[in-house]
Amino acid sequence: TTGGTDDQKRRAAEAAVEAVEDGMVVGLGTGSTTAFAIRAIGDLVADGVDVRGVPTSFASRELARECDIPLVDLDDVDGIDVAIDGADQVAGDALVKGGGAAHAREKVVDAFADQFLVVADPSKTADVLSHPVPVEVLPSARTTVAAAVSDLGGDPTLRRAERKDGPVVTDNGNLVLDCDFGEMADPEALAASLSALPGAVEHGIFAGLADVVYVGTDDGVDVTEL
Ligand code: A5P
Repeated sequence: TTGGTDDQKRRAAEAAVEAVEDGMVVGLGTGSTTAFAIRAIGDLVADGVDVRGVPTSFASRELARECDIPLVDLDDVDGIDVAIDGADQVAGDALVKGGGAAHAREKVVDAFADQFLVVADPSKTADVLSHPVPVEVLPSARTTVAAAVSDLGGDPTLRRAERKDGPVVTDNGNLVLDCDFGEMADPEALAASLSALPGAVEHGIFAGLADVVYVGTDDGVDVTEL
């Protein structure tokens, strides 16, 4: 959520929502940038456009309801036409996500979509990924996964809640380790290593999944097709 301005985020989100057409099933990502997209989709619905949304989190479901977007479960659809989602860092076709601890469901929805559109602001872009990687873990696997992350060269920190004593608990009832690997020369290889850890439910490296990246600037939107 840090860095960019609301105007930059809104421009990126509204440009991505131009890809949403009548009859589509749309994956609704999580975060402050995607929130602008969900509101813009709500405007389409209010104008009579037939769109159904698949939320990726408690928060995106709540906002979509507020915007009167009809919602469906992943179980009830044959496919997702477009998913719109934010990122914590973008480098080429690789992202780090999970700043809102929603990356597990986000990855399911974003990977399943025919088109995954990323919405971001200039503070998120980098040449090489270096943002700490959130790893959602089963509560019982917190120490074993942390030890394995250290063996992989990372520095794991249990994410703590700001307005509660104790850890952040995800929508799925799990914990999050923020794992600092410094600059990640080969995010795909690291992603594979993290995916292989017993008890690691999902990590926040999204490599090779994005189709288009929209970066909102102060006077427009930079669009990169991948
Ligand atoms: C949620 O867990 C994240 O993956 C978000 O998509 C990411 O943190 C982007 O959020 P902002 O748009 O608020 O920066």
